[in-house]
Parts: sequence; structure tokens; C-alpha cells
Amino acid sequence: MSSQYGLLMNIPDIIIAIDGKSSTGKSSFARLIAKEFSFLYLDSGALYRCVTLFAIERGLIGRDGAIDLPGLEKALADLDIDFTGDGARIGGRLVEDEIRSLEVSSHVSPVSAIPFVRRFVDEKLHAFGAGRRVVMDGRDIGTTVFPDAEIKIFMTAEEKTRARRRFDEMAAAGGNPVFEEVLANLLERDYMDSHREVSPLTLAPDAFILDNSDMTIGEELAWIRGLIQGKLDIKDAGLCR
Ligand code: DC
Repeated sequence: MSSQYGLLMNIPDIIIAIDGKSSTGKSSFARLIAKEFSFLYLDSGALYRCVTLFAIERGLIGRDGAIDLPGLEKALADLDIDFTGDGARIGGRLVEDEIRSLEVSSHVSPVSAIPFVRRFVDEKLHAFGAGRRVVMDGRDIGTTVFPDAEIKIFMTAEEKTRARRRFDEMAAAGGNPVFEEVLANLLERDYMDSHREVSPLTLAPDAFILDNSDMTIGEELAWIRGLIQGKLDIKDAGLCR
């Protein structure tokens, strides 16, 4: 038996943590790993995006971007986030497209810097990761959420390549993005995510760097297979599940 990209590989129940800047292709890569090795995939950024959409809809973010902190802390008790095959849901409502809008994107970094929001999301991530066979992507998965993850990857790619990816995603979702705005938002978020006080985006000392600016998804998969095999000392990459 073989997978789409090569022979199947038996791997134990581990946590694979993928961190990196915005639009480095973390989600696509994590999804592929999940499919290839039968892992649960969790997009931690989607949780921060859901909290942000919820705050906007509840009128807790002003026109000037100011966040009503006591209001949000109280309201979080009502926030029910779930994931189904078609994406993120708030109280059962599918919000996968809405959470990717430029409006949510432009408020999500300050929302994700709030300590009680991070505690709320971390609790959910730990519950999802309890069974271990999980691949999770975000900014602080390998440093804060699961510092004991067996495999840690830090993804990076050139700025313009990343902005183009986000632009294409938004256009495909039916939006009307402006490239310069998408690029500016991305750079602003990179800066905020790397400079905030709580759990900033940093490179874990034991993370492996993957620069995928010029890589195909098939090459990325070959890379992770080699990494897992070497790190977990899996002798026979040809074993079937
Ligand atoms: O990966 P993304 O662009 O969908 O993430 C949205 C925002 O959430 C991003 O600006 C940073 C924040 N985030 C975070 O702070 N920690 C995570 N583990 C994941 C995302």
C-alpha cells in the first residue's frame, strides 16, 4: 500500500507542533500531515479568529480598535467553539469564511495578545491534544502550549510569497482583496505576534526550520517524513498501517 506521495509510515501517537509567521502555509502542511499519518489536525489560529469574530459581533471592539476587556472576559463564558469537517463553528454556526475576512484579520493580533484569551484558547488546545495523535499549528504551540511536543517545526517563507498566498485565499473565498493591504496587514501581524508580552512567536531551540518559499507540498511531505523517521528512529519507512 502506498500513500499519494510515497510509502506509508507507521508512527506512534505524538504531538507535532508547527509554528511560524502568518501565511507560511502552516495549515495546508498540517492538514496534509494529518491526512497522511491519520492525525487529528487543529488550527489554533482559528480559535483566536473565532474569539475575535465573536468580540466584533458582540460590539466589544470599538471603531478605534479598542477592546472592551471586562465585557469580553465575561462574554467568553457564552462562547462555544467547535470544529467539524467543513471548518470552525460558533454555537453551531459555520464561520470558516468569516473568520478569514480582513476585518477579523486586522483585529486578531491584539485580541490574541490578551492573557485571559490565551488561557481560554490554551485550555481548549490541551483538551484537543489530550489524546496526543495530533498536529497543531500556531505561534506558540512548541514553546508554550505543548513544550514537550515530540516534533517541532518552525515554518517560514518570503514576505511577498506569503502575502500572495493570503491574497489568493481571500479571492478564492469570494473577497475582493487589495494586495498592498494584505501585505501590510501581514507584516503588522508578524510584528505584533513576535513582540507581544505573552507567548510571543519565537523559535523553540529544538524546532526544525522549514523555509517553503520554493517548495512543493510533495517536497514538504518528503521533508517531514525524513524528519520523523530520523527523530523517532523509525527504521522501516515502508511499513503499512
Ligand atoms: O495563523 P493565523 O493567521 O490564522 O492566526 C491568527 C492570529 O492568531 C495571529 O495573528 C496570531 C494569533 N495566534 C496566536 O497568537 N497563537 C497561536 N498559537 C495561533 C495564532
